[in-house]
Amino acid sequence: MTSKVPLIDQQRCIGCGACRSICPDRVIGAGLSDKAFIDGESCMQCGHCYAVCPAEAVSVPFLSSAPELTSIDSGGATSWVDPLPSQMLMEIMKQRRSCRLYQDKPVDRALIDDLLQAAVTAPSGTNSQGWKFLVLPNREGVIRLGEVTADFYRRLNRKAAKPMMRSVLKLLGYPALHNYYEGYYQKVQEALKGWDKSREDRLFHGAPAAIIVAADRRSSCPAEDALLASQNILLMAEALDLGSCLIGYVVEAARRDPSINRLLDLDKNYRIHSVVALGYPAVNWMRPVGRKAVKPEILASI
Ligand SMILES: Cc1cc2nc3c(=O)[nH]c(=O)nc-3n(C[C@H](O)[C@H](O)[C@H](O)COP(=O)(O)O)c2cc1C
Repeated sequence: MTSKVPLIDQQRCIGCGACRSICPDRVIGAGLSDKAFIDGESCMQCGHCYAVCPAEAVSVPFLSSAPELTSIDSGGATSWVDPLPSQMLMEIMKQRRSCRLYQDKPVDRALIDDLLQAAVTAPSGTNSQGWKFLVLPNREGVIRLGEVTADFYRRLNRKAAKPMMRSVLKLLGYPALHNYYEGYYQKVQEALKGWDKSREDRLFHGAPAAIIVAADRRSSCPAEDALLASQNILLMAEALDLGSCLIGYVVEAARRDPSINRLLDLDKNYRIHSVVALGYPAVNWMRPVGRKAVKPEILASI
């Protein structure tokens, strides 16, 4: 059976700690001579440990190799296309990683402006462009948003810690609290503890800036518009050597707790669809990560 967690070759591991420092699920421990070992099973299989290891000591059998373009050398119908732009775009897409380690350095405002210029090249339903971008240009703002988000999760965890409440809600046909408890409660509890004890930032990963992408509920396809614009931001960030990471925990909190919209002075007609952490990465990626193999269903005869 394929391993569900990364495999670490103890002979090759040099104990540099790179994999441990970027593991989002904290499942990598340090053993003798700081050599890495897998310590837990709650791995989301992101492959970042593989991508960052300078000694090629990590393998991730649950992922295929990194995606590659196939049309360019095939001599087929698209062989007339200039391969350079497609290859460059593919490289940017493959190299983009969710960055969870940042340098302690503010992001150049001109770069943030460029990200927004890239964002609005996205398509939008009936060209409504009903998106709104809120920029937190410095760490203090990011921390403030993090604190309001943390307050929401503190309250949620207090509720989720009550077995009676979980069971009754589930019996009544509301399994959300039960599912949250099973999937997130423990992780969130540890993250809150880390913040309270030592200001360890497991929410924004220490990012010095963020862009919040909201959209007007009254436009035709607000979620799609905002998410397409967000993807443009992520790709342009990679092209500009910035690190970025979507922070879904804040989006979820904002859906349930109006205090986030209040903090951001965001009109009730706007809903937050993504929060993008930004900064200069403090990670040295050695190689792209793979993905699960694509298995399209080709419907040639309908
Ligand atoms: C909707 C969405 C929400 C996400 N929320 C978080 C988050 O709250 N924290 C985080 O560290 N990563 C978050 N991520 C990043 C994913 O974990 C990441 O994209 C995935 O592991 C693949 O890694 P890659 O982006 O480096 O390819 C989110 C991604 C998406 C698409």
